[in-house]
Amino acid sequence: MHETTPESSSMNTEISRRADFSQLRYAQCWEDADLLLRVLAPMRYHRIFSIASAGDNTLALLAHGPERVVAVDLSAVQIAALELRVAAYRRLDYPAAMQLLGVQPADQSNEQRLDLYALCRPLLSASSQTYWDDHAADIRAGVVAQGRFERYLRLFSRRILPLIHPARVRNALLQRRNLVARCKFYTTVWDTWRWRLLFRVFFSRLVMGRLGRDPAFFRYAEGDIATGLFERTRNALTRLDPTHNPYLQWILLGRHGSALPFALRPQNFQAIRRHLNRLEWHTLAAEQYLAETKSEKFDGFNLSNIFEYMSLSAYHELLEQLIGAARPNARMVYWNLLAPRRRPAEFANRVISLDNLAATLHRQDHAFFYSALVIEQVAAPGQTFT
Ligand SMILES: C[S@@+](CC[C@H](N)C(=O)[O-])C[C@H]1O[C@@H](n2cnc3c(N)ncnc32)[C@H](O)[C@@H]1O
Repeated sequence: MHETTPESSSMNTEISRRADFSQLRYAQCWEDADLLLRVLAPMRYHRIFSIASAGDNTLALLAHGPERVVAVDLSAVQIAALELRVAAYRRLDYPAAMQLLGVQPADQSNEQRLDLYALCRPLLSASSQTYWDDHAADIRAGVVAQGRFERYLRLFSRRILPLIHPARVRNALLQRRNLVARCKFYTTVWDTWRWRLLFRVFFSRLVMGRLGRDPAFFRYAEGDIATGLFERTRNALTRLDPTHNPYLQWILLGRHGSALPFALRPQNFQAIRRHLNRLEWHTLAAEQYLAETKSEKFDGFNLSNIFEYMSLSAYHELLEQLIGAARPNARMVYWNLLAPRRRPAEFANRVISLDNLAATLHRQDHAFFYSALVIEQVAAPGQTFT
């Protein structure tokens, strides 16, 4: 499959004008890939549109061999992250790929990662080669921890969490327990005043905007961040099982633990690798890609939480484009963190909101920080909704 990566995107979207996209923001995808796969259920004849981000979830969508996956991202650096993964899956075996990406420690020294990079480098586009050549230190240190957001999360595990609980308690949280024992551990051991205080400070809008995300990402945010996040974290530490949660484990440990996201599990490596020729990618905003390829139709859309970075009117315009690019019954899946985004009433006869499914899955979302999961389905011709 043909791949294109312009040197820099000709983007002129709202968020691209305000935020700095010269750095790697996300070195991992922070949306639950298992949940995404349950919603989109890629089939052999499906075409899927996916926001690239760091690439993991786009790769996960390939595992079941859909006809085609088109990944876009307005950031050339995020596309470089996807390309590095694709090259690693193509050129290396599983252990070496995980070493290069920093999922596993390097065998001998971190210099070994540079040797693995040298093997993969010829498979990258010129702009991605330049980016990674200039960021050899990130390769050496293990790419999955080098995004701005991962550095922020690492600060939490390395600097803040040790002020809250000693190593003994932190390790105990990740021991296997049943639901009742998890709730008891949370209330009697974990939920101290230090936990509550430092959590709220670290995950406040101010600190997150300064260290984790670009403040421009909060333009359409409503309410404070920490309160809802605190409750969802409690849910993730009690009702969901931390031993099965790759996202929680990374936040707590600052590295991958026993649970891995879908694309990084050994059992999925070959299936993803086998279908890499069905993947293409573009350094373009979603709205630009859809405007330029009007005849292309998709069965599923992985939209991350991109709608939060744009005004309501821009969101509605993009929704129009997505409907225009959808086959009947196509599903769109996206998340809300801070800005409420769901299809407005005037779209009701063309897009059905699968609210019950979304609410059920949201309670099981291992990437627990989102306030809402939205699943919407484009109507088939003649289909009516009450
Ligand atoms: C929306 S961000 C969010 C990541 C994660 N959900 C979080 O909140 O931390 C994921 C990716 O979307 C890309 N992105 C944002 N708006 C976009 C757009 N309109 N078109 C294409 N990519 C976009 C960003 O560059 C980034 O790589």
